[in-house]
Amino acid sequence: MGRRLLLEHDNVAGIETFDVYRKNGGYRSVEKALKSMSPELVLEEVQKSGLRGRGGAGFPTGMKWSFLAKPEGVPRYLLCNADESEPGTFKDRYLMEKIPHLLIEGMIVSSFALGANQSYIYIRGEYMWILDILEKAIAEAYEKGFLGKNILGSGFDHDLSVAPGGGAYICGEETALIESLEGKRGNPRMKPPFPAVKGLYGCPTVVNNVESIAAVVPIINDGGEEYAKIGLGKSTGTKLISACGNLARPGVYEIEMGITVEEFIYGDDYCRGIANGKKLKACVPGGSSVPILPHYLVTKTAAGEDRLMTYESLADGGFASGSMLGSGGFIVFDEDQCIVRNTWNFARFYAHESCGQCSPCREGTGWMEKVLHRLEHGQGNLRDIDLLAEINKKIEGNTICPLGDAAAWPVAAAIRHFRDEFEWHVDEREESQKRNYGLIREPQSIA
Ligand SMILES: Cc1cc2nc3c(=O)[nH]c(=O)nc-3n(C[C@H](O)[C@H](O)[C@H](O)COP(=O)(O)O)c2cc1C
Repeated sequence: MGRRLLLEHDNVAGIETFDVYRKNGGYRSVEKALKSMSPELVLEEVQKSGLRGRGGAGFPTGMKWSFLAKPEGVPRYLLCNADESEPGTFKDRYLMEKIPHLLIEGMIVSSFALGANQSYIYIRGEYMWILDILEKAIAEAYEKGFLGKNILGSGFDHDLSVAPGGGAYICGEETALIESLEGKRGNPRMKPPFPAVKGLYGCPTVVNNVESIAAVVPIINDGGEEYAKIGLGKSTGTKLISACGNLARPGVYEIEMGITVEEFIYGDDYCRGIANGKKLKACVPGGSSVPILPHYLVTKTAAGEDRLMTYESLADGGFASGSMLGSGGFIVFDEDQCIVRNTWNFARFYAHESCGQCSPCREGTGWMEKVLHRLEHGQGNLRDIDLLAEINKKIEGNTICPLGDAAAWPVAAAIRHFRDEFEWHVDEREESQKRNYGLIREPQSIA
């Protein structure tokens, strides 16, 4: 088992309360930063740590912070992205539910570095019980003098609020999140201007993922260089992985970046292999938006090297034979799973969640869902497979936000690696229906 920087105390009874959290070393980073460091020094440590955004894109956190505009007399905001709606990803939920004070501590230190006197945690609407947990913890932090005016006598004022979303995946996109927080419909904005210049209420704003903000706590406690010693190359530190699907032991794991995918799937400290002694068929290693890998590319790259749990290794081979670490939603499929059905299922999600602002995404996701639906239900033809590839090309890169890409990539990858299975759904229609549904459907006429 590697080092655990975020979840070290997740099983300590009462860790969700201020007192137990504090007894276990909580809020040390606030004391250190506010009493003995300048905002610039905090930023420097985060830069040294090599921390990359844990929300999916992996953008260096220190660099993002350094872009924050600082015009005189204009407020700045830190927004924590707790919208976590990507299928397969549930790590932020675990962290907030178990150790809410870790996120609050990270929010205070990060806000100090950014010069933000007000910050918000934007939480997905379905996480209502966690909203209660967070609000209770925030009230405790106010009571103990870690939030509010003149924190620990440092002269730094900070207010933190939680804002619930309405249950829309698109509001996890940072500019849609800002729109939603402003009380508007959550449609993504055109960039530039980037939030660092013009974000919430037109003011400079940083949006970071829950895990990114929580990671600032060990970075300040131990120093950025210590943090950077964990991991490999540009994938530093630890990473929360939410592992699900046909695994013997699914769950949320904190791993040191750089362990092999083989160890993560089969190791005793992690998922302990495929459930029920079945064989591995495929894996989506970073949430539903990233390309699926067939079994022979999961633990090894196309060049035959060990695949590692790092941003670089999971992407090795590009889209031809690689995938992405993404948001750490690690979904495993055993030999009995149907790739066509899963691809349709993901497509259904994106068609439902497209905000409808850009026509390639609005129309394309709906169209892909329909074509996949008929393929999956034994009503497709071989031309449909190429049609999907064509729709994909029309969406990719042609939308304001990456939701369109996120919908297109999984379909393209599924066809690239499992074309024979799509063809089987056409050629062996009855067999495929019997396998997936135990019945034979009457074919519908296809216009
Ligand atoms: C459709 C869509 C949904 C997203 N959902 C989330 C989310 O739930 N949580 C998150 O942290 N980032 C999400 N992102 C990424 C955010 O736009 C943004 O990059 C991230 O919050 C930045 O934080 P980080 O730099 O700490 O990773 C989403 C992006 C898109 C396009």
